Amino acid sequence: MSSPVRISQKDAIAIITIDNPPVNAINPDVTQSLGARVDEAIADAGVRAVVIIGAGRNFVAGYDINEFVRIVSGEKEIDVHLGNVLDDIELAPKPVVAAMQGAALGGGLELALACHYRIAGPATQLGQPEVKLGLIPGAGGTQRLPRLIGSYRAAVMCATGAPVTAAEALDNGLIDEIVEGDLLEGALRFAAALTSPRPTRGKDQSLSTFILPKLPPKLKPLFAPNQALAAVELANRLPFAQGLIEEQRLFRECLYSNESKALVHVFLGEREVAKVPGVPKVTPEIKLAAVIGAGTMGRGIAMAYANAGVSVLLTDESPDALERAMLAIRAQYKSSASKGRMSPADANSRIERIQKAEGYAGMENANVIVEAVFEDMVLKKRVFADIDSFASHDAILATNTSSLDIDQIAAATRRPERVIGHHFFSPAQVMRLLEIVRGKATSPEVTGASLGIARILGKVGVVVGNCRGFVGNRMFHCYRREAQFLVEEGARPADVDAALVDFGMAMGPLGVGDLAGLDVGWRIRKEHRHLDDPSVRKPLIEDMLCEAGRFGQKTRAGWYRYDDERNRIDDPEVESIAAEAARRAGITRREIRADEIRDRCLCALVNEGCRILEEGIAARPVDIDMIYVTGYGFPPHRGGPMKYAELAGWRRVHDRVRELERVHGSLWQPASLLAKLAAEPAG
Ligand code: NAI
Repeated sequence: MSSPVRISQKDAIAIITIDNPPVNAINPDVTQSLGARVDEAIADAGVRAVVIIGAGRNFVAGYDINEFVRIVSGEKEIDVHLGNVLDDIELAPKPVVAAMQGAALGGGLELALACHYRIAGPATQLGQPEVKLGLIPGAGGTQRLPRLIGSYRAAVMCATGAPVTAAEALDNGLIDEIVEGDLLEGALRFAAALTSPRPTRGKDQSLSTFILPKLPPKLKPLFAPNQALAAVELANRLPFAQGLIEEQRLFRECLYSNESKALVHVFLGEREVAKVPGVPKVTPEIKLAAVIGAGTMGRGIAMAYANAGVSVLLTDESPDALERAMLAIRAQYKSSASKGRMSPADANSRIERIQKAEGYAGMENANVIVEAVFEDMVLKKRVFADIDSFASHDAILATNTSSLDIDQIAAATRRPERVIGHHFFSPAQVMRLLEIVRGKATSPEVTGASLGIARILGKVGVVVGNCRGFVGNRMFHCYRREAQFLVEEGARPADVDAALVDFGMAMGPLGVGDLAGLDVGWRIRKEHRHLDDPSVRKPLIEDMLCEAGRFGQKTRAGWYRYDDERNRIDDPEVESIAAEAARRAGITRREIRADEIRDRCLCALVNEGCRILEEGIAARPVDIDMIYVTGYGFPPHRGGPMKYAELAGWRRVHDRVRELERVHGSLWQPASLLAKLAAEPAG
């Protein structure tokens, strides 16, 4: 196997090239090989200066994340050798220059910091993003960076993980020069002019100028950003060598934290869900997308395609609705341009990519057809029979239904193997999740192509099976049901939402209901009331809110009241409705603490997630986790519902569910998979 780091020489300058595709990540092999090349360059009397550069598009994008996983699982030891190699570079008797392009992140930036000089191409991104994986720099970054650019700026970089551009790096002293044109040529020219190494350590800063930034509210409760601040603070107080030891201690605490395990799981999960056993990797050619139904979802889906550079034909049976959609799309793009999120030219080309169609005219050329009409089976079947009559033989026929049976919809066509669910989330041009729902006839090629479409749209595609609510909404139903029970039993809506927001959810379950509209579920429940099992408790309160005309934000009242700015206000009327619901259900209301709220809502998610796995509706726990993190506002630092349960301990979750079953009855019966996992020895 060829070495991932090679050395060559030009005019007495050694060129050390890191070449570890795809992104030049550092791993123990790279460290070892880099160390050997550095030794060679130092020992060679003919070498006056050294340039370290990356092959390909990046300098070094970071330390290999899979290595961290192996260390945490006990398979490997921490690569302490990297610290020695960086010391050797820093203490080299010849000037060493880091020449950076593309990504100079994490371990990559730490390597550059140990060099005496740093230069970069204009598009280079420099950063310490370790906190995004629940870690902090562990190879001297928290000690060298403050000595170079000051504690405040270093703390911002290490604690937020946000990268800086080459221009910002030049401005704050992180780099010495921006190289326009060929980077290696620029580096050789720069190195040729150097006469000696430049001491980089030892410049301890004056305490009087020492200020640390405050963490933004979203980062404040997290472990790693606080550890990063602590490490940078120590750089100010301790001599360099001692600072490194402390950094290592703080780094190890992060490495074994649940926060890091969860974030690494989510990071790797994004790649894992794209690989589905039995589904081929397909990169479909999508030149034209057709969207039928130009309501809330249809227009968002059209924009998602236009944003990815795909032309779209949009239609609606109501000319007024179509006209409104076209105006709304135009207004959204114009507003994005006016806020500087895209150039006016870019906004215009996206607007032009979406054309309205009369009926289905032109849609016979579409590579993918997405149906987004009302949630009504009879209507959807009719629309799919139409699609079947005009679509080209190799088109993908997708429905955006959020709950209906894909097999029934597919049966309305003569090609059920080409029919699949593409369940987008609102707003479809923003939300990253695409739940890809396979029917029993859907071909593996169409499923693979759908994953390809998710990639084209910049979304996370997760393949699931066909059942009521699929994975996301089926679990969400149990979660929201529990939230409603809690209010009936005595919790205030604001307490329920706050307990889950404190846990890290983007929104509380009741606030989400108000945003989406409570009337949608109410109508569905009314239709299915004859199917209810009277022996199973069901929440009464949301129906009662709807009966009182409280549909959520759209009627300015739901679980809360809303003022003109849509600020939410607690409403005593909801309290009386809750008390009446409790009376009808024969419940004595009581005070309920935040931990009970959190436990019950989360255990409801986990228990249903286990059932979904048992039934094979989701193939792997990671599929559920990615659905929740990318589509339902579940905090990435908790890893998704299934990872959360694993980290909390399956036995603990199971015991809690058992306890809830004793108090609240059969809805809480533990899934057999949950019982099985709880019985396994903790790993
Ligand atoms: P919407 O009511 O905003 O829009 C539906 C549009 O379909 C209307 O403009 C209507 O005129 C049009 N339409 C009805 N029959 C048609 C036909 N035969 N041909 C062409 N157009 C027709 O509904 P929304 O919210 O956009 O939902 C659409 C679908 O997306 C539903 O299946 C819904 O369950 C699903 N969905 C909705 C989400 C949401 O947050 N609203 C999220 C994910 C999926």
